[in-house]
Amino acid sequence: MTDQYAVFGNPLGHTKSPQIHSSFAKKTNQDLEYTAIEASLNGFNTAIQKFRKAGGCGANITAPFKLEAFAMATDASERAKLAGAANTLLFDGERVFADMTDGVGLVNDLVKNLGISLTGKRILLVGAGGAARGAILPFINEKPSLLVLANRTPSKAHDIINACQHQDNIRACGLEELTEQSFDVVINATSASLTGQCPALPKSVFLEAEAAYELAYGKGLTPFLALAKNANVKVLADGVGMLVEQAAEAFSIWRNIRPETQEVIKTLKIPIE
Ligand code: ATR
Repeated sequence: MTDQYAVFGNPLGHTKSPQIHSSFAKKTNQDLEYTAIEASLNGFNTAIQKFRKAGGCGANITAPFKLEAFAMATDASERAKLAGAANTLLFDGERVFADMTDGVGLVNDLVKNLGISLTGKRILLVGAGGAARGAILPFINEKPSLLVLANRTPSKAHDIINACQHQDNIRACGLEELTEQSFDVVINATSASLTGQCPALPKSVFLEAEAAYELAYGKGLTPFLALAKNANVKVLADGVGMLVEQAAEAFSIWRNIRPETQEVIKTLKIPIE
């Protein structure tokens, strides 16, 4: 029987996940079917149980269900535990394993696809929602010289950093505290771009930056990327590569085989400028 996978979210209108995973399956000769299931806002648990009963092997989870997905797991990866959220579930009998592949997807896109090494670099991660939280451990694993988590509401950034056990070179702060600080890589993990806004970042953060990365994708030159462009940052990227890389990581958790990502990224990429 063909193995069943699905992405769960609400709304799911524009999801690219079925296209990405079908392409991975074809390329790696895996017999699987991947569908999109829009669960009702209070019906996530029911939808997952129904899917499991029908033989579902694994799932991707997107907004607003990532916290619920983590809560239903019997065990979870360290990176999912730190995020307190899951975007990938693996079903194996009674076992429900939760993982969070967004952060490693972001790091893989930066390092492998964009050629931006993070080791020894100063990284600014802006935002303290689920997206930023999921990226902390994968960034720490790259051994940057400094990782600053900056958020409009500073207390949220401090809470996340206080929950990490690792660190001398990791700091939390508010956006206004960034004045006169410089970084090598600046990442916008806020949801500001979704409403055409920009986090209030001082220009100084871009002055020595080699790359600026916007987690949202397909939105062209967002106000954040425009700010970076004005400061002459050479590499400007949106989150399409991250989207495909997080999917590749999920696929390899489910199938034990890692698909190539380059061609899929090329198909989905929309020029930024
Ligand atoms: P997600 O799960 O996508 O990360 P979230 O948990 O709602 O979404 O978090 C949104 C993040 O974007 C938060 O860090 C939020 O800042 P606050 O914690 O101060 O609310 C940030 N954000 C949203 N709009 C913003 C804006 N206009 N300027 C700066 N930060 C913004």
